[in-house]
Amino acid sequence: MAIEQTFSIIKPDAVERNLIGDILKMISDSGLKVKALKMIQMDRAKAEGFYAVHKERPFFGELVDYMLSGPVVVSCLEGENAIEHYRKLMGATNPADAEAGTIRAAFGVNIQNNSCHGSDGPETAKNEVAYFFNDNELVG
Ligand code: CMP
Repeated sequence: MAIEQTFSIIKPDAVERNLIGDILKMISDSGLKVKALKMIQMDRAKAEGFYAVHKERPFFGELVDYMLSGPVVVSCLEGENAIEHYRKLMGATNPADAEAGTIRAAFGVNIQNNSCHGSDGPETAKNEVAYFFNDNELVG
């Protein structure tokens, strides 16, 4: 299986509840390696650009406001089949549908405040990592 990189956000609801360590532990216990990591406060332009693909969706405004509501932890994760691996570890977008043992089942509040984001494919992963990290920050 190919070694891939994926992009992750620990979202404001999880940071606010002091869950950064718990989520990073689930990530490393699952075998993914942290290649880059930082805590940031997004501004509106950054959040709107990140979620531009959803700009016509009815939840776009609320989603952007939520992502600005506090700091987030962004990371680049690496491992075999990392994109699919991390999506499985996160669980379904709506925590109510997420399987036991997943991050969203453990910590997600609702479909918006769902504690984490992960890239949905190789192209997205490449673009999302580059949206938040310079090459010289991928040091892990
Ligand atoms: P994420 O994986 O970051 O991708 C888009 C985000 O939009 C999603 O997680 C949710 O946090 C948020 N969202 C809010 N409402 C919905 C919805 N009805 N369907 C999908 N995503 C939603």
